[in-house]
Amino acid sequence: MTESVHVRAPGKINLALRVGAPDSTGYHPLTTVFQAVDLYEDVTATRTGASDGELTLSVVGRGAAAVPTDATNLAVRAAELLRETTGATAGAHLEIVKRVPVGGGMGGGSADAAAALLACDQLWGLGLDRAELVALGGQLGADVPFALTGLTAVGTGRGDVVTSAMSSGTYHWVLATQARGTPTPTVFAEFDELGGRTAAPPELDDDLLAALRAGDPLQLARHLANDLEEAALELRPELADVLAATDRAGALAAVVSGSGPTVAALCIDASHAQSVASVLRAAQVADDVLTVTAPTHGARVLEHVQRED
Ligand code: C5P
Repeated sequence: MTESVHVRAPGKINLALRVGAPDSTGYHPLTTVFQAVDLYEDVTATRTGASDGELTLSVVGRGAAAVPTDATNLAVRAAELLRETTGATAGAHLEIVKRVPVGGGMGGGSADAAAALLACDQLWGLGLDRAELVALGGQLGADVPFALTGLTAVGTGRGDVVTSAMSSGTYHWVLATQARGTPTPTVFAEFDELGGRTAAPPELDDDLLAALRAGDPLQLARHLANDLEEAALELRPELADVLAATDRAGALAAVVSGSGPTVAALCIDASHAQSVASVLRAAQVADDVLTVTAPTHGARVLEHVQRED
Protein backbone atom coordinates (compact mmCIF):
# COMPACT_ATOMS: atom_id res chain seq x y z
CA MET A 1 0.00 0.00 0.00
CA THR A 2 1.14 3.57 -0.73
CA GLU A 3 0.19 6.15 1.85
CA SER A 4 1.05 9.84 1.73
CA VAL A 5 0.01 13.08 3.42
CA HIS A 6 0.29 16.42 1.62
CA VAL A 7 0.52 19.55 3.80
CA ARG A 8 0.74 23.20 2.79
CA ALA A 9 2.27 25.87 5.07
CA PRO A 10 2.66 29.62 4.44
CA GLY A 11 5.59 31.99 4.37
CA LYS A 12 5.35 35.09 6.58
CA ILE A 13 6.27 38.71 6.71
CA ASN A 14 6.88 40.74 9.87
CA LEU A 15 4.82 43.92 9.95
CA ALA A 16 6.65 45.06 13.07
CA LEU A 17 9.75 43.52 14.63
CA ARG A 18 11.09 45.00 17.85
CA VAL A 19 14.24 43.39 19.23
CA GLY A 20 15.74 43.43 22.75
CA ALA A 21 19.16 42.53 24.15
CA PRO A 22 20.28 38.89 23.78
CA ASP A 23 19.80 36.53 26.73
CA SER A 24 22.40 34.07 28.06
CA THR A 25 21.64 31.65 25.19
CA GLY A 26 22.34 34.33 22.58
CA TYR A 27 18.70 34.56 21.51
CA HIS A 28 17.10 37.98 21.37
CA PRO A 29 13.76 38.56 23.10
CA LEU A 30 11.45 40.15 20.58
CA THR A 31 7.97 41.41 19.95
CA THR A 32 6.66 41.00 16.45
CA VAL A 33 3.50 41.02 14.38
CA PHE A 34 3.44 38.18 11.85
CA GLN A 35 1.20 38.00 8.83
CA ALA A 36 1.01 34.77 6.77
CA VAL A 37 1.17 35.35 3.00
CA ASP A 38 -0.20 33.18 0.22
CA LEU A 39 3.20 31.96 -0.88
CA TYR A 40 3.32 28.36 0.28
CA GLU A 41 5.67 25.49 0.95
CA ASP A 42 4.23 22.06 0.16
CA VAL A 43 5.50 19.00 2.03
CA THR A 44 4.37 15.48 1.14
CA ALA A 45 5.29 12.71 3.57
CA THR A 46 5.15 9.22 2.07
CA ARG A 47 5.39 5.96 3.98
CA THR A 48 8.43 3.99 2.82
CA GLY A 49 8.87 0.24 2.92
CA ALA A 50 12.20 0.65 4.69
CA SER A 51 12.18 -1.37 7.90
CA ASP A 52 15.02 0.68 9.38
CA GLY A 53 12.80 3.73 9.81
CA GLU A 54 14.88 5.81 7.43
CA LEU A 55 13.94 9.46 6.87
CA THR A 56 14.76 10.73 3.39
CA LEU A 57 14.21 14.09 1.75
CA SER A 58 14.01 15.61 -1.69
CA VAL A 59 13.59 19.31 -2.42
CA VAL A 60 12.36 20.92 -5.63
CA GLY A 61 11.26 24.44 -6.58
CA ARG A 62 12.54 27.96 -5.93
CA GLY A 63 16.09 27.96 -4.54
CA ALA A 64 16.05 24.17 -3.99
CA ALA A 65 19.74 23.81 -4.87
CA ALA A 66 20.69 25.85 -1.77
CA VAL A 67 18.72 23.63 0.63
CA PRO A 68 20.47 20.77 2.48
CA THR A 69 18.78 17.38 2.02
CA ASP A 70 20.55 15.63 4.90
CA ALA A 71 19.66 15.32 8.59
CA THR A 72 20.39 19.04 9.15
CA ASN A 73 17.30 20.05 7.15
CA LEU A 74 14.72 21.51 9.52
CA ALA A 75 11.94 19.32 8.06
CA VAL A 76 13.96 16.16 8.78
CA ARG A 77 14.74 17.47 12.27
CA ALA A 78 11.00 18.04 12.75
CA ALA A 79 10.21 14.42 11.82
CA GLU A 80 13.02 13.20 14.12
CA LEU A 81 11.76 15.32 17.02
CA LEU A 82 8.27 13.92 16.53
CA ARG A 83 9.65 10.37 16.74
CA GLU A 84 11.80 11.11 19.80
CA THR A 85 8.81 12.66 21.56
CA THR A 86 6.26 9.97 20.77
CA GLY A 87 8.44 6.86 20.49
CA ALA A 88 7.29 6.33 16.88
CA THR A 89 9.78 4.33 14.80
CA ALA A 90 8.35 4.46 11.26
CA GLY A 91 10.25 6.07 8.41
CA ALA A 92 9.09 8.46 5.72
CA HIS A 93 10.15 10.17 2.55
CA LEU A 94 9.57 13.92 2.63
CA GLU A 95 9.25 15.89 -0.57
CA ILE A 96 9.37 19.66 -0.27
CA VAL A 97 8.16 21.98 -3.01
CA LYS A 98 9.68 25.38 -2.27
CA ARG A 99 8.11 28.69 -3.22
CA VAL A 100 9.22 30.90 -0.32
CA PRO A 101 12.67 32.41 -1.05
CA VAL A 102 15.46 30.51 0.73
CA GLY A 103 17.15 32.61 3.44
CA GLY A 104 14.83 35.47 2.59
CA GLY A 105 13.49 36.42 6.05
CA MET A 106 10.11 34.90 5.22
CA GLY A 107 10.24 31.76 7.33
CA GLY A 108 10.40 29.27 4.46
CA GLY A 109 12.46 26.70 6.38
CA SER A 110 10.15 27.15 9.36
CA ALA A 111 7.14 26.49 7.11
CA ASP A 112 8.84 23.27 5.96
CA ALA A 113 9.30 22.19 9.58
CA ALA A 114 5.70 23.06 10.48
CA ALA A 115 4.40 21.14 7.46
CA ALA A 116 6.64 18.14 8.22
CA LEU A 117 5.36 18.00 11.82
CA LEU A 118 1.74 17.96 10.67
CA ALA A 119 2.31 15.56 7.75
CA CYS A 120 4.26 13.00 9.81
CA ASP A 121 1.80 13.23 12.70
CA GLN A 122 -0.98 12.23 10.28
CA LEU A 123 1.04 9.67 8.34
CA TRP A 124 2.14 7.86 11.47
CA GLY A 125 -1.27 8.20 13.13
CA LEU A 126 0.16 9.89 16.23
CA GLY A 127 -2.84 12.12 16.93
CA LEU A 128 -1.00 15.07 18.51
CA ASP A 129 -3.18 18.13 18.90
CA ARG A 130 -2.30 21.60 17.56
CA ALA A 131 -0.97 22.83 20.90
CA GLU A 132 1.41 19.86 21.13
CA LEU A 133 2.65 20.44 17.58
CA VAL A 134 3.13 24.15 18.31
CA ALA A 135 5.19 23.28 21.41
CA LEU A 136 7.40 20.95 19.34
CA GLY A 137 7.65 23.63 16.65
CA GLY A 138 9.04 26.09 19.21
CA GLN A 139 11.89 23.66 19.93
CA LEU A 140 12.85 23.63 16.24
CA GLY A 141 12.93 27.36 15.52
CA ALA A 142 11.42 30.66 16.57
CA ASP A 143 9.18 30.99 13.49
CA VAL A 144 7.83 27.42 13.38
CA PRO A 145 4.85 27.92 15.75
CA PHE A 146 3.56 30.79 13.61
CA ALA A 147 3.80 28.68 10.42
CA LEU A 148 1.43 26.23 12.16
CA THR A 149 -1.07 28.84 13.30
CA GLY A 150 -0.92 31.30 10.37
CA LEU A 151 -3.26 34.30 9.86
CA THR A 152 -2.09 37.36 11.88
CA ALA A 153 -0.41 36.99 15.24
CA VAL A 154 1.75 38.68 17.83
CA GLY A 155 4.94 36.78 18.60
CA THR A 156 6.83 37.25 21.89
CA GLY A 157 9.65 35.38 23.65
CA ARG A 158 11.98 34.42 20.79
CA GLY A 159 9.04 34.95 18.44
CA ASP A 160 7.85 31.43 19.29
CA VAL A 161 5.10 32.43 21.75
CA VAL A 162 2.26 33.18 19.39
CA THR A 163 -1.03 34.91 20.21
CA SER A 164 -3.55 35.45 17.43
CA ALA A 165 -4.36 39.06 16.53
CA MET A 166 -7.55 40.42 15.00
CA SER A 167 -7.32 41.51 11.39
CA SER A 168 -9.97 42.57 8.87
CA GLY A 169 -9.84 42.35 5.11
CA THR A 170 -7.10 41.36 2.72
CA TYR A 171 -3.74 43.11 2.41
CA HIS A 172 -1.88 43.34 -0.91
CA TRP A 173 1.90 43.15 -0.85
CA VAL A 174 4.66 43.24 -3.42
CA LEU A 175 7.69 41.19 -2.43
CA ALA A 176 11.11 42.10 -3.84
CA THR A 177 13.24 39.01 -3.34
CA GLN A 178 16.95 38.28 -3.75
CA ALA A 179 18.48 35.02 -4.98
CA ARG A 180 21.19 35.19 -2.31
CA GLY A 181 19.82 34.93 1.22
CA THR A 182 21.24 36.37 4.46
CA PRO A 183 21.73 34.00 7.41
CA THR A 184 19.49 35.09 10.31
CA PRO A 185 22.26 34.74 12.98
CA THR A 186 24.50 37.09 10.98
CA VAL A 187 21.83 39.78 10.95
CA PHE A 188 21.17 39.49 14.70
CA ALA A 189 24.96 39.64 15.30
CA GLU A 190 25.15 42.80 13.17
CA PHE A 191 22.24 44.27 15.16
CA ASP A 192 24.32 43.75 18.35
CA GLU A 193 27.43 45.10 16.65
CA LEU A 194 25.59 48.29 15.70
CA GLY A 195 24.72 48.93 19.34
CA GLY A 196 21.74 46.65 19.72
CA ARG A 197 19.81 47.08 22.92
CA THR A 198 20.59 46.73 26.59
CA ALA A 199 17.05 45.96 27.63
CA ALA A 200 13.77 44.27 26.70
CA PRO A 201 12.27 44.93 23.27
CA PRO A 202 10.19 48.09 22.96
CA GLU A 203 6.42 47.74 23.19
CA LEU A 204 4.44 47.17 20.03
CA ASP A 205 2.74 50.16 18.53
CA ASP A 206 -0.98 49.93 19.49
CA ASP A 207 -1.87 51.89 16.36
CA LEU A 208 -0.52 49.07 14.19
CA LEU A 209 -2.85 46.54 15.81
CA ALA A 210 -5.74 49.04 15.55
CA ALA A 211 -5.02 49.48 11.80
CA LEU A 212 -5.15 45.69 11.34
CA ARG A 213 -8.45 45.45 13.23
CA ALA A 214 -9.87 48.23 11.04
CA GLY A 215 -8.55 46.64 7.83
CA ASP A 216 -6.94 49.97 6.90
CA PRO A 217 -3.80 49.65 4.73
CA LEU A 218 -3.17 53.43 4.74
CA GLN A 219 -3.06 53.42 8.53
CA LEU A 220 -1.01 50.21 8.63
CA ALA A 221 1.53 51.75 6.24
CA ARG A 222 2.43 54.36 8.88
CA HIS A 223 3.37 51.76 11.45
CA LEU A 224 5.51 49.17 9.66
CA ALA A 225 8.76 48.83 11.63
CA ASN A 226 11.77 46.55 11.78
CA ASP A 227 14.60 46.90 14.30
CA LEU A 228 16.73 44.55 12.16
CA GLU A 229 16.44 46.76 9.09
CA GLU A 230 19.54 48.82 9.80
CA ALA A 231 21.60 45.64 10.28
CA ALA A 232 20.16 44.07 7.12
CA LEU A 233 21.03 47.25 5.18
CA GLU A 234 24.54 47.24 6.58
CA LEU A 235 25.05 43.67 5.34
CA ARG A 236 23.19 44.17 2.07
CA PRO A 237 23.61 47.83 1.01
CA GLU A 238 21.67 47.14 -2.20
CA LEU A 239 18.49 46.94 -0.09
CA ALA A 240 18.56 50.75 0.18
CA ASP A 241 18.00 50.83 -3.60
CA VAL A 242 15.11 48.39 -3.26
CA LEU A 243 13.45 50.50 -0.53
CA ALA A 244 13.95 53.68 -2.59
CA ALA A 245 12.49 51.96 -5.67
CA THR A 246 9.34 50.90 -3.74
CA ASP A 247 8.87 54.54 -2.79
CA ARG A 248 9.29 55.71 -6.40
CA ALA A 249 6.91 52.94 -7.51
CA GLY A 250 4.22 54.46 -5.28
CA ALA A 251 3.90 51.75 -2.62
CA LEU A 252 2.19 52.93 0.59
CA ALA A 253 5.26 51.88 2.59
CA ALA A 254 7.88 49.14 2.57
CA VAL A 255 9.82 47.20 5.16
CA VAL A 256 12.53 44.54 5.22
CA SER A 257 10.86 41.29 6.27
CA GLY A 258 12.43 39.69 9.36
CA SER A 259 16.19 39.41 8.87
CA GLY A 260 15.82 40.11 5.13
CA PRO A 261 16.76 40.44 2.36
CA THR A 262 13.13 40.27 1.14
CA VAL A 263 11.49 43.71 1.05
CA ALA A 264 7.69 43.78 1.45
CA ALA A 265 5.87 46.77 -0.04
CA LEU A 266 2.30 47.45 1.05
CA CYS A 267 -0.27 48.41 -1.59
CA ILE A 268 -3.85 49.59 -1.51
CA ASP A 269 -5.40 46.83 -3.62
CA ALA A 270 -4.62 44.19 -6.25
CA SER A 271 -4.31 46.57 -9.21
CA HIS A 272 -2.08 48.94 -7.24
CA ALA A 273 0.11 45.94 -6.36
CA GLN A 274 0.36 44.99 -10.05
CA SER A 275 1.45 48.50 -10.96
CA VAL A 276 4.03 48.72 -8.13
CA ALA A 277 5.35 45.28 -9.13
CA SER A 278 5.83 46.27 -12.77
CA VAL A 279 7.72 49.46 -11.83
CA LEU A 280 9.93 47.44 -9.46
CA ARG A 281 10.62 44.85 -12.15
CA ALA A 282 11.64 47.59 -14.57
CA ALA A 283 13.92 49.10 -11.90
CA GLN A 284 15.86 45.79 -11.78
CA VAL A 285 16.67 46.11 -8.09
CA ALA A 286 15.49 42.60 -7.16
CA ASP A 287 16.02 39.10 -8.55
CA ASP A 288 12.29 38.49 -8.47
CA VAL A 289 9.18 40.54 -7.78
CA LEU A 290 6.02 38.76 -6.59
CA THR A 291 2.56 39.88 -5.57
CA VAL A 292 0.94 38.16 -2.58
CA THR A 293 -2.10 38.62 -0.39
CA ALA A 294 -2.42 38.19 3.36
CA PRO A 295 -3.43 36.98 5.86
CA THR A 296 -3.79 33.32 5.00
CA HIS A 297 -4.12 30.05 6.90
CA GLY A 298 -1.42 28.17 8.78
CA ALA A 299 -0.20 24.63 7.99
CA ARG A 300 -3.05 22.42 6.84
CA VAL A 301 -3.50 18.96 5.34
CA LEU A 302 -4.54 19.14 1.68
CA GLU A 303 -4.68 15.43 1.01
CA HIS A 304 -4.22 12.08 2.78
CA VAL A 305 -3.95 9.34 0.17
CA GLN A 306 -4.10 5.60 0.91
CA ARG A 307 -3.85 3.52 -2.24
CA GLU A 308 -3.60 -0.24 -2.78
CA ASP A 309 -0.62 -0.90 -5.08
O1 C5P B 1 15.07 30.07 15.89
P1 C5P B 1 15.80 30.12 14.58
O2 C5P B 1 16.54 28.84 14.31
O3 C5P B 1 14.98 30.57 13.45
O4 C5P B 1 16.91 31.24 14.77
C1 C5P B 1 18.06 31.30 13.96
C2 C5P B 1 19.10 32.19 14.65
O5 C5P B 1 18.65 33.54 14.67
C3 C5P B 1 19.40 31.84 16.09
O6 C5P B 1 20.39 30.86 16.18
C4 C5P B 1 19.88 33.18 16.65
O7 C5P B 1 21.22 33.42 16.27
C5 C5P B 1 19.02 34.17 15.89
N1 C5P B 1 17.80 34.55 16.64
C6 C5P B 1 17.92 35.41 17.72
N2 C5P B 1 16.80 35.76 18.43
C7 C5P B 1 15.58 35.33 18.05
C8 C5P B 1 15.42 34.46 16.93
C9 C5P B 1 16.57 34.10 16.25
O8 C5P B 1 19.04 35.83 18.07
N3 C5P B 1 14.51 35.70 18.75
